[in-house]
Amino acid sequence: MTRSVIAGIGSYVPPQVVSNNDLSKLMTTSDEWIRTRSGIEERRFAGEGVYCSDLALEAARNALANAHLEPSDLDFIIFATLSPDHHFPGTGCFLQAKLGVPYIGCLDVRNQCTGFIYGLAVGDAFIRAGMYRHILLVGSELHSNALSFTDEGRDVSVLFGDGAGAVVLVSSTEEDRGVLYTELHADGRFAKALHMDVWNISRKPYLTHESIDTGEIWPQMDGKTVFKHAVIRMAELVTNALKHCEVQPENIKYVIPHQANMRINQLVAERLGFPQEKFLNNIQKYGNTTAASIPLLLDDAYRAGKLQRNDLLLLIAFGSGFTWASALLRW
Ligand SMILES: CC(C)(COP(=O)(O)OP(=O)(O)OC[C@H]1O[C@@H](n2cnc3c(N)ncnc32)[C@H](O)[C@@H]1OP(=O)(O)O)[C@@H](O)C(=O)NCCC(=O)NCCS
Repeated sequence: MTRSVIAGIGSYVPPQVVSNNDLSKLMTTSDEWIRTRSGIEERRFAGEGVYCSDLALEAARNALANAHLEPSDLDFIIFATLSPDHHFPGTGCFLQAKLGVPYIGCLDVRNQCTGFIYGLAVGDAFIRAGMYRHILLVGSELHSNALSFTDEGRDVSVLFGDGAGAVVLVSSTEEDRGVLYTELHADGRFAKALHMDVWNISRKPYLTHESIDTGEIWPQMDGKTVFKHAVIRMAELVTNALKHCEVQPENIKYVIPHQANMRINQLVAERLGFPQEKFLNNIQKYGNTTAASIPLLLDDAYRAGKLQRNDLLLLIAFGSGFTWASALLRW
């Protein structure tokens, strides 16, 4: 049976570290508020002139080097982001050009915080169908230029950071290794609980001076609704995956949760009766990097020597859409 295995992993964060205290100089907030509500201590900002595809390029190069592969070995690129270089074309095309591999297919996945897992499910399906053998899957975000560092925008802007993570998925015939299970969900009734209005194609013209003046260009979030649904859905994902794959909780080495808020992940672990140490977190260093958060966390764990071959890992995410998704992997 053909399976997709992660043959290489890499990540990249821009060098500029922005602490909670740095943000408190721009708006009415504090290290104490941010830390106790979210667990975040600092994040990275890319600054002006950098594209989302630039961060992705560094992560992709690191993942390819880790897989001992060249860009020319790739058959396909899947690019997950909510902060694309431009509205169109897809950022995968920009990355493909930067990697210097014209002609291979590129697919952008616009699924916000679950984009990496949705991309993994799509890549896995392509590989199992025999369509491709080497797929680059990237999650990359450049949030910082699209956040409002004002008192009106502070509920959102303190939570997010920039970064990228990538994996190279390769086809393998090894039994019981690689991607074992994926589960994808969405509930569009909550589409506006975390969204950005600015690109409103129903309007003529779709973008006005007023859109800028009224703050439509910044993300809007109903934080409490997001929080409540995230805890319920992420716990459900774990229960479903364990049941479907007939796996006991003790056989899961780590849960790799999306990094939106440390409190969400702590409550999910509590709800499931899992020890907190089973849930890995690095939100302290990077904030919420949306589609990049899971590969960034996986890469951090890998580089820290926490992941051994054949470890069972359960990836879970929840975010804007609402969307939620999981993947069970044998490393
Ligand atoms: C955003 C979030 C941290 C807010 O936490 P909370 O516990 O709901 O906030 P509280 O109700 O305790 O506090 C809200 C108050 O803090 C204020 N506040 C909001 N952002 C603030 C900030 N950065 N600094 C200081 N005060 C802030 C609000 O204006 C509000 O003030 P008020 O009570 O005077 O109206 C929380 O709702 C959350 O994490 N939600 C999920 C967000 C998320 O995960 N998004 C990404 C999903 S992928």
